[in-house]
Amino acid sequence: MKRIAVLTSGGDAPGMNAAIRAVVRTGLARDWEVYGVCHGYAGLISGEMQALSARDVGGILQRGGTMLGSARSAEFETEAGRERALRELNMKGIEALVVIGGNGSQTGAYALSQMGLPVMGVASTIDNDLVGSEMTIGVDTALNIALEAIDRLKTTASSHGRAFLVEVMGRRCGYLALMAALAGGAEAVVLPEVETDPDQLAETLRDAYRRGKQHGLIVVAEGAKYNAQAMSEYFHRHQQRLGFDLRVTNLGHVQRGGAPGAFDRILATRLANGATEALAKGESGLLVGLNKGDVTTTPLADVAGRQKPIDLRLVELANILAK
Ligand code: F6P
Repeated sequence: MKRIAVLTSGGDAPGMNAAIRAVVRTGLARDWEVYGVCHGYAGLISGEMQALSARDVGGILQRGGTMLGSARSAEFETEAGRERALRELNMKGIEALVVIGGNGSQTGAYALSQMGLPVMGVASTIDNDLVGSEMTIGVDTALNIALEAIDRLKTTASSHGRAFLVEVMGRRCGYLALMAALAGGAEAVVLPEVETDPDQLAETLRDAYRRGKQHGLIVVAEGAKYNAQAMSEYFHRHQQRLGFDLRVTNLGHVQRGGAPGAFDRILATRLANGATEALAKGESGLLVGLNKGDVTTTPLADVAGRQKPIDLRLVELANILAK
């Protein structure tokens, strides 16, 4: 192997830069040339890529986002788009690709590997919804950002005896919301994976006040049927009956921004190193992830288009601890 490329795709995640740096430097250590592709699969199609030196990836370890840029490419979802991407790689003599990204990105990586290109995926998304990795790059930092907001909201909520809804990201997966509720000590959590009755939720809040709590804090996953908007509209429509006026905070993209914490920097570094190691061994079509503390690989065929389930026992635990 002489020349590989690396790209970041889909929603950015804190730690992606650490992963780029590790792919480049571990690749250079093997005497490969490493090309950085700009703007994810879109840049692969338009041929926006250049060789990166060890210095080019200096000073990025501690920065959020991705120095390569990221995008969601509709063209890459077509066979014609993927063929154009392969032609661009062939023209530049690039023999293998590392894809740092989440669910959609790894589905794209699988498609390219099926077309004969050696490809390794690196598990990176704040949603933590990828089959094949217990933790993905960016989750830990995003969770800490959500927690800081929850801790702050609790102090103002307590001062006024108010009920607050905090919506966190996660696409169709409730992982971030569940963990934020557990670690933040929320009174309730609303998830895509568990049906929630808004009237029952109001009763949970009333009960919390009856037990002497000073506030009611509910963490809501953006993918839940009753997300923050739907839930607050319901409470507003039935305010007389439910007896609550909910204050809403939507954390949105704030969760994806900012410097990665130590866990994500180290995870990104280990997974990216796993990707170049696997390519050096001639492996392809695999996702590099973290399982039971070890860097492991899982066939992209088992990852593409699937969503990792959350641990429903933790929902029960969160409810017990909310008492
Ligand atoms: O997949 C990461 C993620 O941040 C999801 O949690 C969220 O639903 C989505 O990306 C938002 O995407 P965009 O940045 O394109 O609005």
